[in-house]
Amino acid sequence: MKTKVTVPGRVNLIGEHIDYHHLPVLPMAIQRRVSLSFQPRTDRRIRAVSEHYGERQVCLACNVTPGPPGDWANYIKAAMQAAGRCAPLERGIEATVTSDLPAAAGLSSSSALLTAFTIALLAANGVEPTLEQLMDVLPDGEQFVGTRGGAMDHAAVLGAKERCALLVRFAPLDLAAVPIPTGWSFLVAHSLTTAEKSGAVRAQYNARRVSGSEALRKLGFVSFQSALCSPGCERLANSAKLTEEESRCFRHVITEAVRVEEAITALRTGDAVRFGEALTASHASLRDDLRVSCPALDELVEAALKAGALGARLTGAGFGGCAIVFSKTEDRARIAAELMANYYSKHSEFDPAHHLIYAEPSAGAIALAA
Ligand code: GLA
Repeated sequence: MKTKVTVPGRVNLIGEHIDYHHLPVLPMAIQRRVSLSFQPRTDRRIRAVSEHYGERQVCLACNVTPGPPGDWANYIKAAMQAAGRCAPLERGIEATVTSDLPAAAGLSSSSALLTAFTIALLAANGVEPTLEQLMDVLPDGEQFVGTRGGAMDHAAVLGAKERCALLVRFAPLDLAAVPIPTGWSFLVAHSLTTAEKSGAVRAQYNARRVSGSEALRKLGFVSFQSALCSPGCERLANSAKLTEEESRCFRHVITEAVRVEEAITALRTGDAVRFGEALTASHASLRDDLRVSCPALDELVEAALKAGALGARLTGAGFGGCAIVFSKTEDRARIAAELMANYYSKHSEFDPAHHLIYAEPSAGAIALAA
């Protein structure tokens, strides 16, 4: 009998490039999903077929080495390792993967894939993992594919609630659903520049993390939480101890943490203007300080704001991929139409089904759907 696991993508509303520094972030899961239909096998083989990426076969083993960067078998191997840390694995699976979640767009298609395979492998071996168990193994599992990301994506794709944003705090992990006020809406708009996180962009992403940590160390703090408690900590970014790159990364992290708090207050009080301003300020910081934007994303964000969005910013790792556009529900279709007229009309590869998504805050995936 076949079992199905579906795992949603996520879009980060605000709190970018700070999860790996253990600062709170505010993503939501979206209705686009990776679906994995599987059957346990009697041997230790995993055979997986993806409608887009073809077939891969991997054998359950303790020591696995990654294949070429970007090869999707790496996600299966990563899942094998993650699942193997939860329980001994004896049986492989026969799996088919389908997805309506655009890949390499900053929507966590890779985390969704890793999560789906991990849950499926555990289920095939008689284990129904808890969210906590998965959170213990998935973020590390992702590093197997080369990116030293944080734990935001896994928290969101697992633990998000319908109609809510998910406030994720780290160290210790704490998830809280924050309802999104009625009448607030989001568009996920693809810049049409692809950010292949497991490929070329990997080094850049990892470098931002290293620069932030190095700045923290040079300034003598044990964590960004403690840096944030120090009065006027933003000014520390100007310290002569830091290289220019470290200084920029530090400033982004500190100011983004403050914007997350502002956004949460705005969400809780229903202040759409303030929420939008926090998003747009986040984009400026990602563009100018952290420097993870690109001309296409900047242009898209500008176009969205010009069309009347209350806020817009790149979402996810950056270097391409998607922007999140925030507006009142009554304005969303008009903003989408203006983006089509003013941004997408220049791009023949534009496909509205994949590149312009009306994102609805959706539930995470911990339960197996039969
Ligand atoms: C990627 C990582 C996340 C996070 C974002 C940037 O999506 O997987 O952990 O660091 O980039 O906020």
